[in-house]
Amino acid sequence: MSDTAASPLIIAIDGPAASGKSTVAKKVAKKLGLVFVNSGAMYRAFTHHVLENGIDLATDVDAVLKCLSETTFDCGQEDGASTIGVNGIELSDAQLSLTAVNDNVSAIAKIPEVRERLVAEQRKYGARMPGVVMEGRDIGSVVFHETPHKFYVDASPEVRAQRRKAQGIEDEILERDKQDSSRKAAPLKVAEGAVVVDSSEMTADEVVAEVMKHLPTKSWAEGAALIVKKKRDMNFVYWLGYTFFKFLTWFYGDYKVINREKLCEDKDGLLIASNHVSFVDPPVVGIAYRDAIYYFARKTLFDHPVANWVFTRWRAIPVNQDKPEISSLKRVIALLKGGKKVVLFPEGERSWDGVIKEKAEAGIGMIVSKSRVPVLPVRIFGAEKVLPRGKNWPVKGKIRLVVGDAMDFTELLESGELKGKALYEEISLRIMREIATLELPAETE
Ligand code: DC
Repeated sequence: MSDTAASPLIIAIDGPAASGKSTVAKKVAKKLGLVFVNSGAMYRAFTHHVLENGIDLATDVDAVLKCLSETTFDCGQEDGASTIGVNGIELSDAQLSLTAVNDNVSAIAKIPEVRERLVAEQRKYGARMPGVVMEGRDIGSVVFHETPHKFYVDASPEVRAQRRKAQGIEDEILERDKQDSSRKAAPLKVAEGAVVVDSSEMTADEVVAEVMKHLPTKSWAEGAALIVKKKRDMNFVYWLGYTFFKFLTWFYGDYKVINREKLCEDKDGLLIASNHVSFVDPPVVGIAYRDAIYYFARKTLFDHPVANWVFTRWRAIPVNQDKPEISSLKRVIALLKGGKKVVLFPEGERSWDGVIKEKAEAGIGMIVSKSRVPVLPVRIFGAEKVLPRGKNWPVKGKIRLVVGDAMDFTELLESGELKGKALYEEISLRIMREIATLELPAETE
């Protein structure tokens, strides 16, 4: 992977356990506005999952491999750091640093098939982001061996043992290092061309300064600017509503986004298509995103000047539900072409019981065909119970937003197979079908 302006910016930081590489990687990422990725968390997440399934790591590699084939990894991003989910469920730091996980992670990490799979996930993640600082054991030597920005942060065994102890974590790091360095598949080693920094006698900030010295700041600053520029496009009134709904969902229940990494946060121009079960659906989708998105709202809601003022700032686009005007459609198409994200409910009106209608409004097909942006199917579960139709006050309950895979209609559009209304209806139908296939995964608390 070459480090051109069009490629993601990758900084690889490797080193043994408790060498301080995580702290340093986090700080460097923050300084440059890049995403910090802890690759060890992925090995830990899978180890946690294997243990939870009662598999005996020592004797049953076949069961581990079977489990691997049935596992999906969801690498997301929150506040500039990577998050990791397994089969749609995000794992907490506490779960990832359980003693049982510490004790077994090296055994899992030495299985070549596990490495192959996780390396592929790490590469996919790196390619999706405009820039990452990824730390681990083999980032510079294997995962992103082509990046010119490689570091190896080391520290003496005594210092590392002390650092772990100071963190209050029970972790046999020396034993783990022995296993990580002696394994056959991608052992821990200094990557060719890596800058080695011995942090034994240095503070974290001194190590960060040393790392920064070796980075061509101009291009990194450009990379950072890319993310910062994309970070927020949110006015104050939107922010107030956004924060209020975040508070409500925290207070009234438990709101979770399943497959958060598929939200396409960094995508310019995205039509989000959701089922419609409650009038809180727009914010249920909106608060999943870090940035402001656009919504449709019934035209009559804008009648009062104050409401008009607020809704406009909430990025709502007035639409006549019975007969959408060409002007509203044109506005949405222009917004999408301009790189914005818009959420739309293709069923038109709310469903009383959460059951998805088969028929979708053809309008969404028209928007897709004119704007040519991808469509992200999402499905809301539970909002109809938290805020039932006809009720003004919510009751406590679970709300889940399940995110599907983005749909690309380029092929259908370019084939010329269908035209006009038939084309719009076909697109709408495919979107509705895709929404209907999204299921709620089983959850473990
Ligand atoms: O960085 P950490 O201590 O959280 O990593 C946990 C384990 O995962 C570590 O003992 C070895 C393994 N690992 C790996 O093999 N390759 C990586 N890139 C990152 C971690």
